[in-house]
Amino acid sequence: MSKQKKSMYLNKKRKRIKKGPVILAGLCALLLLVSGVSAWQTWNKGETILPLTSDEEKPQVLDDSDKQKNEVSEYDIDTPASITAIINKQRPFPSDYEPSDLVVPNIAMRDNISGDEQYVRAQAATALEAMTSAAANEGIALLLGSGYRSYALQESLFASYEEISGTEAANQYSARAGQSEHQTGLAVDLVGDDMSCYLEICFEETPTGQWLASHAHEYGFILRFKKGKESITGYQYEPWHFRYVGPELAKAIHEKNVTMEEYFDLVQG
Ligand code: DAL
Ligand code: ZN
Repeated sequence: MSKQKKSMYLNKKRKRIKKGPVILAGLCALLLLVSGVSAWQTWNKGETILPLTSDEEKPQVLDDSDKQKNEVSEYDIDTPASITAIINKQRPFPSDYEPSDLVVPNIAMRDNISGDEQYVRAQAATALEAMTSAAANEGIALLLGSGYRSYALQESLFASYEEISGTEAANQYSARAGQSEHQTGLAVDLVGDDMSCYLEICFEETPTGQWLASHAHEYGFILRFKKGKESITGYQYEPWHFRYVGPELAKAIHEKNVTMEEYFDLVQG
């Protein structure tokens, strides 16, 4: 090959070699674009992707029940002083448990309410005051019928109901000592200022009962003993008994239309 031809051949070869990295970069860009679009589509569907581990082939997508399990584990349902503690026939409180932050809320109370029953825990008192004021703006005058009840007070109440109705029947509408939510200082029995249907099922039909059923959760209270859930809660329907659990949990429980036991997966059998 002459010197001139040889140099032309080398030039062509150099030009061909220079195209290699350009093609490779193009392929990489295409690959990045395709994976970016697919990640955006997944994110846009509202799914949560967990990072891959070595023995997984597909990304894990959290469904609603997994998400609820994660949320549920954030709440302390076991410590008596927890705002979200669950007390029922299967989960009694110690006889000496007494909340340390009981206060008298600044709201109207029924006549002859006992000293103990005027108290609720501080957080519940603030929420109760806000709820009472919101109700008043809509023409509903709430009265506190019963708040905190000590172990000893619940013991004497249950004994008197037992005499009236017999043990089994009494335990459908009253808790034994150590099993009452009133011992948490977070439960309240409410009524309108006309005392209409106080501690009676017909309370659900009163404007006060209806207002509470629709709005209590906004202030952190749930209707604790629901209609149709007697076999789960262990008590008759009580449209007047509200339990403070905080606005976030109250909203979740209200929207799911479940009991605390169902929400926290405590239903046996
Ligand atoms: N009435 C409810 C069940 C209580 O006594 O705590
Ligand atoms: Zn009650």
